[in-house]
Amino acid sequence: MLLTYDAFREAVEDDDRRRSLLFEDDHPRYVLFAQQFSRVDLVRLSASATAIRRMDRHRDGVGFLRSILSGKRVLNLFAQPSTRTNESFVAAAEKVGATVRVVSDLRTSSFAKGETVEDSVRTLSSFYDLLVSRHPDDDFATRAAWALRRSRRPIPVVSAGSGKSEHPTQALLDVYTLQYSFAERGGLDGKRVLLVGDIGRNRAARSLALLLTRFEVRRLDVACFPGHGPDPALVQALERARIELVTHDSLPKAVQTLGKELDAVYVTRLQQEWDTGAGKLGTSEDFVLAWDLRHHLREDCVIMHPLPRVNELPDEWEAHPGFVVWRQVRNGMWMRAALLADIHGATDEIMARARRLGVA
Ligand code: CP
Repeated sequence: MLLTYDAFREAVEDDDRRRSLLFEDDHPRYVLFAQQFSRVDLVRLSASATAIRRMDRHRDGVGFLRSILSGKRVLNLFAQPSTRTNESFVAAAEKVGATVRVVSDLRTSSFAKGETVEDSVRTLSSFYDLLVSRHPDDDFATRAAWALRRSRRPIPVVSAGSGKSEHPTQALLDVYTLQYSFAERGGLDGKRVLLVGDIGRNRAARSLALLLTRFEVRRLDVACFPGHGPDPALVQALERARIELVTHDSLPKAVQTLGKELDAVYVTRLQQEWDTGAGKLGTSEDFVLAWDLRHHLREDCVIMHPLPRVNELPDEWEAHPGFVVWRQVRNGMWMRAALLADIHGATDEIMARARRLGVA
């Protein structure tokens, strides 16, 4: 049965109905929400990302990786600025053998003439095998997935950032980075995470919070800008997962209070691109992780930021043993390569080859 857009939207927001619409044979076809991934999916994608990373250093591995999506064409349709997500998707697609084209100025496409999302993405599906989209509209990727799913060329769609609501592939790489950082400490289960910044409008922090519901995280602390706290849907999702949400109105006070109990601090910037007439870029000292605050944290506390940053995470933090921001960036490429391969049902083959090469 063909669903109307409203019925599709309602179904994909429902925890029980989402999977049957967004997955095919247990691998993702439409990547729209962090919470569409189960813990089993996360384990599979993380193992594949690690195998791809190791095979990329192996003479026989590189050729195999390039064969996975050989002949496939990926379109990155980016209607908002991006450095990391766009370039890491390009690098990831090339690692697994696909060719990529980037369209980042939608004024040069027929969107500018008023063409609908449906007609535009159906046209693009004639020329490409997978669409990666970033758009200021929360609904764009979902509408594209809906339109393509009911078409004769139902190519996969991956959200690379949807409005203020979701950045699912950032959450995948963030969880991968956290799991890697906690590998010697039992993984993410039972860990204490502090999210900092514009939680209401930072889609990376929001998607990460949603993905943390897949772990035995019993409490989540957030230090958020006044008026930019977690939205009701996020609060409800955390409640359903029985995660206690504790909000703080000042980062220094939160760090002084929680201190050595914290396992990770995830800093984000003030999302001033959504403000009209925003003045000087950056945040007040209430939401800057000042270098002096290191004395309250453990040496193994993981320090993350999805980037870009302005003033909220000073450069001195690069000297902290828990600073993993550049690893986080690079993990974006490995995780996105794993995701592109998984969408094409190639994960089992990757793992089998990695075992044969002794890098699994
Ligand atoms: N983290 C992130 O989404 O960065 P970009 O905006 O540069 O893609």
